[in-house]
Amino acid sequence: TAQGQLAGKKVLITAGPTYEKIDPVRFIGNYSSGKMGFALAEECSRRGADVVLVAGPVNLQCSAAIRRIDVESADEMHAACIKAFAQSDAAILCAAVADFKPSDVVAQKIKREGNKLTLELTSTPDIAAALGREKQSNQVLVGFALETDNEETNALKKLKSKNLDFIVLNSLRNEGTCFGTDNNKVNIISDSENRQFDFKSKPEVAKDIVDYLCERMKCGE
Ligand code: C5P
Repeated sequence: TAQGQLAGKKVLITAGPTYEKIDPVRFIGNYSSGKMGFALAEECSRRGADVVLVAGPVNLQCSAAIRRIDVESADEMHAACIKAFAQSDAAILCAAVADFKPSDVVAQKIKREGNKLTLELTSTPDIAAALGREKQSNQVLVGFALETDNEETNALKKLKSKNLDFIVLNSLRNEGTCFGTDNNKVNIISDSENRQFDFKSKPEVAKDIVDYLCERMKCGE
């Protein structure tokens, strides 16, 4: 059996972007690389957790011990997460889920005609909020917030509206962090505190976040 602080614990992690199909060859996506979520999955696995990693389209590998479920769209990620969360002790939602998808997927490649194209978009499910509604008292739910302004106020709003236990805030104001980079600088915000961390590599940031998670889960007590 696995040893470590998280032995016997099941942790669900989401990572990467989602792609929302426009037609057979095009999608709406974003710049998320998945590196932060994959680093979290590896860190939890290293500490003995049974990890389910729901990954959007990314160019990354993970250890064989991690149960990886590859998805493309927000709807697919939502379905995989709802299923896995019921058996999870904790979930860390690191994915940059698209907020909107095309209302209709066009069956044929859209032709280049005229000089304007209007796409109608419909909102995707908020996975974090959905899990927040299903959360039991013994489950810990962790979200991420990527903000460009009013960072802490917005992060606190998300913490409450999605029923999260804590939220990891990264700011686009910090150069050399976030999308696609190897480093990050975060704050961890809960009801009771706002802990600031230094600029460091994503695997090091993952250690800080998992330490915080272990405190919350009262691991080893
Ligand atoms: O509301 P916002 O997208 O800024 O919230 C970010 C947090 O919510 C992240 O933890 C992200 O993974 C999660 N989220 C989600 N499903 C969505 C949108 C965001 O799980 N559709």
